[in-house]
Amino acid sequence: MSWLYSHIGAPILMGWEASKEVGLKAKELGCRKVFLVHDQNLKDIGLLDDIINSLEEQQIQYCSFDGVQPDPPDVVVEAAAELARNQQIDGIIAVGGGSAIDTAKAVNVLMRNPSPIHQYLRPGLTLNPGVPSIFIPTTAGTGSEVTSISVITDTLHDQEKRSVNNPVCLASLAVIDPQLMMGMPPSLTASTGMDAFAHAAEALTCAMANPLMNAFCREAIRMISQNLSKAVKDGQNREARENMAYASTIAGIAFTNVRVHVGHSIGHVLGAAYHVPHGVACAIAIPPVIRWASKWVPQQVRMIGEAMGCQIPQDASDAEIGKITADGIQKLKHEIQIPSMKDLGFDWETVKNLVPLIRQQGAFVAKPGEISDEELLAILQEAYEQ
Ligand SMILES: [Fe+2]
Repeated sequence: MSWLYSHIGAPILMGWEASKEVGLKAKELGCRKVFLVHDQNLKDIGLLDDIINSLEEQQIQYCSFDGVQPDPPDVVVEAAAELARNQQIDGIIAVGGGSAIDTAKAVNVLMRNPSPIHQYLRPGLTLNPGVPSIFIPTTAGTGSEVTSISVITDTLHDQEKRSVNNPVCLASLAVIDPQLMMGMPPSLTASTGMDAFAHAAEALTCAMANPLMNAFCREAIRMISQNLSKAVKDGQNREARENMAYASTIAGIAFTNVRVHVGHSIGHVLGAAYHVPHGVACAIAIPPVIRWASKWVPQQVRMIGEAMGCQIPQDASDAEIGKITADGIQKLKHEIQIPSMKDLGFDWETVKNLVPLIRQQGAFVAKPGEISDEELLAILQEAYEQ
């Protein structure tokens, strides 16, 4: 048995209307003026009301930043960090999807470490701690509220997505309130839900997988399989929304402890090439990746299939385990109407040339076994033909 270091991400406050407690929690963390990073439309649709009211009740000042962009570009992070430093804030609160939370994490890195952010885009660095942070997701999928990773777009060099992976990025508190997720439209519910599925399925099959995190992954996969379609079909289904909120957080805890691998490597490259939502890009990749993974870790793939409720015979071959599980994932994707590469207008001539870029992704090293260019091309082809 090799040594295992694990953590469950961040302290978590979870429940309906938990966001009404944010002011009190910020006060307990010693905050007097916070930097409130949020998605642009949240204020208009009233999703910030409870949070702002709770801050005002506790006499906590706030400075809003609503310039969050998808796949947060480095330049936005730098601008936000400059504003936060000038405003002399002593806490950061992020409300929104993964991009808002990732922006807030990168800003926190720059609170007490000099710019530019690019020098921190590699793991293993010892950085000065940031200010207290509270992350409040409004989608169920990225798990960003409990991970130590901030994914940003490196516009200075090559437009590639790169990660700050550092304890500075961990929340002082994650507040998970399913009420904030009730208004998500079906397509966003579907794509973010499949992002959570990919986190769990890849964490379960990565080279660092371990029994402790396997338990988290299996439960996340079970909950997603039983609730994602319901949440897509009826956004007001409270039980489905609550279970998806749990599943997303559980999957986030798992993948921040181990890793994701080829699915997210493909997802990042497709996302950068075609500007499709992260969850859609990962959903496109995940069935053939899991089928391939059965060559190396068939029992881990069996866990995915069985957690989904697939019937896998005890004497099934490794390839059969892979096929049954991949078919199960594909069925889920169809149910929730994840678009195919062809629906999205991807052309095969471009896609087939992405193999070298996929190999360069940071997550690629966590793959469960060797993969040839021919195998990678076959995965892309299978994904393209779905
Ligand atoms: Fe992801």
